[in-house]
Amino acid sequence: MSRLDSFIRRLLAQRDILNAIAEDARRLEGDVLELGLGNGRTYDHLRELFPEKRIIAFDRDERRDQISRPDDRDMVVGEIQETIAPYLTGAAAVVHADIGTGNPDRDAVTLTWLPEIMARALTKGGIAISGLPLDHDAFASFPQPAGVSDGRYFLYRRR
Ligand SMILES: C[S@@+](CC[C@H](N)C(=O)[O-])C[C@H]1O[C@@H](n2cnc3c(N)ncnc32)[C@H](O)[C@@H]1O
Repeated sequence: MSRLDSFIRRLLAQRDILNAIAEDARRLEGDVLELGLGNGRTYDHLRELFPEKRIIAFDRDERRDQISRPDDRDMVVGEIQETIAPYLTGAAAVVHADIGTGNPDRDAVTLTWLPEIMARALTKGGIAISGLPLDHDAFASFPQPAGVSDGRYFLYRRR
């Protein structure tokens, strides 16, 4: 598969998963955490899906000139593994992490801390969505929406 095809499938998987969990997530109390704001595409989609929820975005880059960016009070700038501590309250309804790089060595380092912080951030029954697989006892599997192939994007329910 070409990298273009792979990229398109990844974006479709992100959109389809976010749409699929939206109704469920609206019933949960708590904020949405967007780990890796990037260009703000998924942030903007989350904003459409959850207009009533607070969405807090994290990135090492400030992204100040970008349209799809939260106000400063909901933008946390720095390395996620260093800035996330105040949000590990077990109160988030949804955590979405799009911080995979495609580089297995770098992603392996990320996976030494990402599953644990997502587990600690989420409320019971909360939803974890990730571009990297989250191997953690706190997570139960959650059915993928039709059309999203296994291994492309990962979806879990906090036990
Ligand atoms: C693939 S982009 C996210 C794209 C986003 N979902 C979108 O739709 O536009 C990943 C972002 O995560 C940020 N990032 C990756 N690892 C990070 C870390 N450990 N701490 C802070 N930011 C990180 C990068 O700076 C980058 O902007």
